[in-house]
Amino acid sequence: MASITEPLPGTSDIWEPETLDWITLENAARNVFHRYGYGEIRTPIFERTDVFVKSLGDETDVVQKEMYTFQDRGGRSLTLRPEGTAGVIRAIANAGLEQGEEKRVFYFGPMFRGERPAAGRRRQFHQVGVETVGSNNPWMDVEVIAMLCQFLDSIGITGSHVVVNTRGLPEDRARVTSALKEYFAPKVGEMCEDCRRRFDTNVWRMLDCKNEPCTTFAAGSPKIVDLLGEESRTFFEKVCQGLREVGVEYEFAPRLVRGLDYYIHTVFEVTHSGLGAQDALAGGGRYRIQFAGSKTPIEGIGFAAGMERLLLARQSLGITAPDVRDADIMVLGLGESAVLPALQLAQTLRGEFAGLRVKADFTGRSMKAQMRGANKARAQVALILGENELAQGTVVCKMMETSEQETIAINELNGFLATKLNAR
Ligand code: HAM
Repeated sequence: MASITEPLPGTSDIWEPETLDWITLENAARNVFHRYGYGEIRTPIFERTDVFVKSLGDETDVVQKEMYTFQDRGGRSLTLRPEGTAGVIRAIANAGLEQGEEKRVFYFGPMFRGERPAAGRRRQFHQVGVETVGSNNPWMDVEVIAMLCQFLDSIGITGSHVVVNTRGLPEDRARVTSALKEYFAPKVGEMCEDCRRRFDTNVWRMLDCKNEPCTTFAAGSPKIVDLLGEESRTFFEKVCQGLREVGVEYEFAPRLVRGLDYYIHTVFEVTHSGLGAQDALAGGGRYRIQFAGSKTPIEGIGFAAGMERLLLARQSLGITAPDVRDADIMVLGLGESAVLPALQLAQTLRGEFAGLRVKADFTGRSMKAQMRGANKARAQVALILGENELAQGTVVCKMMETSEQETIAINELNGFLATKLNAR
């Protein structure tokens, strides 16, 4: 049986230096998204279950099989967010959106899906995402996809692959549904259990099945775009034209539908070969979401990328977490009387050298043991304070790599360290 101290399957503890890598990604995302006028939003990690059921669609795998749903003490059904869009749109609906007003937000945070854990498939994973609402212009879709590509570039992810399709407007749906039903009707008996159910409940999802022979059948199905009305086709042509004009390389994927039912018009995914079977780095599209009580639906476009997968893709390209030391400067206090001065000196140095890590050894243990500690922390320099140094107002500076040692007057220490140490 697993020990209680082990994280649950599909969840993990993230330690430094990996956490530094996460910060790098978050800062890169902030930096890129700010350039496009996006501001950060933080929404709750749990919501009323209906926030997800009504927006993602009750026939989706996420809603059917993957949500962590529980009752609070008042008997209300609540759910840990399986994705970020629904909560963000709920927040925007709650704040109110004026006629013609546009909002651009980005977010980071944990999401929860009860999936079978595998490489790149977690039960708690983290997304970085953006949503733009209030614009029904196809150029906005182009800009959002271009922004995603610029973000991937900025974190060194090369070799990703953008695939794009359209789902058209709600008014096209009946036509697509009946064409798909007609196509799948003679084949459905040979397809998987999920597809047999989807044939009646949501035939579009049959295009998304990953089981054989369903994938082979799906590959011969009619292309969605060919079944759409003029308005939807024109919208999609503009998106494709815009992508070409801004230099985004993409592939048209005529049967991409994505697993969430709120999408209309543009849907897209970015895959990366460094990821293995779970190869989707990011996914998104245009959507319409309406909550009970709202007069009109909110239309938006956005995407989310899985942070763990971004890190895996970077690793596959040889970009690893930065190499950090536990301490750049280790202050050793030798003997009882030097412990407090060591603490004080460390405190002063932290004020002086903002980019460095300074630790003091408070144990009062032997010089040899403290030196071992400094080595283990991979300190650049050990500052040694003993009775003699305290009496003379000096400190012994030992450069750990070369073992060179110098006695420096305490009032010259900052200048000395500034020349000797590499700030991170
Ligand atoms: P999604 O495709 O379900 O879309 O998820 C987006 C990304 O989250 C995936 O491409 C993948 O990188 C990551 N991801 C999803 N599930 C897992 C998992 N179990 N373990 C690890 N990573 C995972 C959405 O969530 C939409 N809200 C995207 C969106 C935003 N559409 C419009 N706006």
